[in-house]
Amino acid sequence: MDLNDKQDVRRNRIRFVLDGEIVSAEITDPTRTILQYLREDLRRTGTKEGCAEGDCGACTVVIGEPGHNGGLQLRAVNSCIQFLPTLNGKLLLTVESLSEPGGPLHPVQQAMVDYHASQCGFCTPGFVMSLFALYKTRRQPDRREIDNSLAGNLCRCTGYRPIIEAARSMYDYEGDGESSWIRRVHRVGGNGAPPDEIRLVNLVKSIQPKFSLSIEAGGKRFFAPVSMTELCALISQHPGALLLAGGTDIGLWVTKRLRELDTVIYLGCVPDLSTIDAGTDYLEIGATVTLTDAMKAICEIYPDLEELFIRFASPPIRNAGTLGGNVANGSPIGDSMPALIVLGTRIVLRRGDVTRELPLDRFYIDYHKNDLHPGEFLQSIRVPVAVPGRLLRSYKISKRFDQDISAVCGAYSLQLDGDIVNDIRVAYGGMAATPRRAHICERTLRDREWTEDTVRSAMKALDDDFAPITDMRASSGYRSTIARNLLYRFFLETSGSRNANTQVYDYGS
Ligand SMILES: Cc1cc2nc3c(=O)[nH]c(=O)nc-3n(C[C@H](O)[C@H](O)[C@H](O)COP(=O)(O)OP(=O)(O)OC[C@H]3O[C@@H](n4cnc5c(N)ncnc54)[C@H](O)[C@@H]3O)c2cc1C
Ligand code: FES
Ligand code: FES
Repeated sequence: MDLNDKQDVRRNRIRFVLDGEIVSAEITDPTRTILQYLREDLRRTGTKEGCAEGDCGACTVVIGEPGHNGGLQLRAVNSCIQFLPTLNGKLLLTVESLSEPGGPLHPVQQAMVDYHASQCGFCTPGFVMSLFALYKTRRQPDRREIDNSLAGNLCRCTGYRPIIEAARSMYDYEGDGESSWIRRVHRVGGNGAPPDEIRLVNLVKSIQPKFSLSIEAGGKRFFAPVSMTELCALISQHPGALLLAGGTDIGLWVTKRLRELDTVIYLGCVPDLSTIDAGTDYLEIGATVTLTDAMKAICEIYPDLEELFIRFASPPIRNAGTLGGNVANGSPIGDSMPALIVLGTRIVLRRGDVTRELPLDRFYIDYHKNDLHPGEFLQSIRVPVAVPGRLLRSYKISKRFDQDISAVCGAYSLQLDGDIVNDIRVAYGGMAATPRRAHICERTLRDREWTEDTVRSAMKALDDDFAPITDMRASSGYRSTIARNLLYRFFLETSGSRNANTQVYDYGS
């Protein structure tokens, strides 16, 4: 064990790289956020707090980790919901990192000034950091990529047109305004990382945790095991502990519900949980693979899911949140589950050395209640490989296109034998206490001709499958209508009988 590592553990400290230097930070409360630490301890007040729930992007920072090409992988995240100990062994960039004090501005900042992309300025550091992540990771983004990169940033006064123009133009500026150490992080392209970036990567690697982090401070405990064996041992020693993955659900329990989390076990340092393996029968996605990486891998085999996943939260949330967290949390309005269910996804649950496999649709028992036994955790998600001829769609209905929670999310998988429905699976989120299949509707369709008449009777059958509730997102009646119409949309898109953009009316009642 490294001497510095030993000392840091004794003193409840973590280490990370900031502006090219290793920083050792004392943890006084394991659920303090990175944002609180930046503003209150380091007095780096450029990073702002708007909503404290991952919605507005004012708090956006960029996190760097050693990437696959030998360089750094940079990703924007919301610092307001990330607990400080999760920064251990990583590189942090804040808006203050980009240019030298008193020197010229970074190209992203200069473009924001030149295109009048800021008025009150409160949201601006967050926009700058999201654009900085884009600047370093994409050479010539198109409008869709620019819009997507900004989906997690809200501006209430300037309007988005000047910000988008700044984003388009930032590539035209010389990099003179970049701080000397930021210049070491090269823009994407070329073969492998250049020597100065490799030196920075090595600095980050030198502080990678080699053994479990164990913090006791402020009456709370925080563990970050670095192996599966240690994780299993910790879970059995602390059966009541909360498992933390990307923290995009849990972070809000602290910042919004003001919950005190006594004992937390962080899963993000266990390498076996963060891999994606492509097998002949299924894609095995480790429970802590980020939504960004998991969705990319799934969309490579199921491109029809791309729009759903682009509309899942925002890049900073997808960069931190995990597919495992979405599945384990089991929210009735979680967006990945309807699609995963109709694909026939299975999950692997583990306790100690014992694992068991379960179809995902059998995992959910009741509202936020699942079939995890005491001491068990989700190890991986097995997404079956594409079946030739299978028709697949998932549609999300929410009030806004970007960064919004679903009122209803429907998913459909269809296998036709000629015109006859050979296999059909239909699942919804937002229609019941858990995401679940519409078995009665499926029975109405199976072995029948895939025609408008059949689909209309299946639309009616959805009323026997679900009795949705009314809440602030949608009324019960609206949900039922939408569920029927989404099935009809699926029919239109897959039967070739009408244009996919045909306006859909309620034929159900
Ligand atoms: C602004 C914002 C927008 C969002 N938008 C969407 C959206 O559009 N669609 C959507 O579906 N969700 C959305 N979410 C919710 C959230 O991002 C997802 O549910 C995410 O996938 C949670 O993953 P996580 O890794 O952050 O989970 P965490 O917050 O770390 O954990 C969530 C729960 O899962 C448990 N858990 C995590 N991993 C495991 C494991 N391996 N084994 C057992 N239990 C585990 C935790 O104990 C906890 O109970 C949004 C959240 C925010 C803040
Ligand atoms: S403060 Fe709004 S996203 Fe963090
Ligand atoms: S400039 Fe005021 S909120 Fe964006």
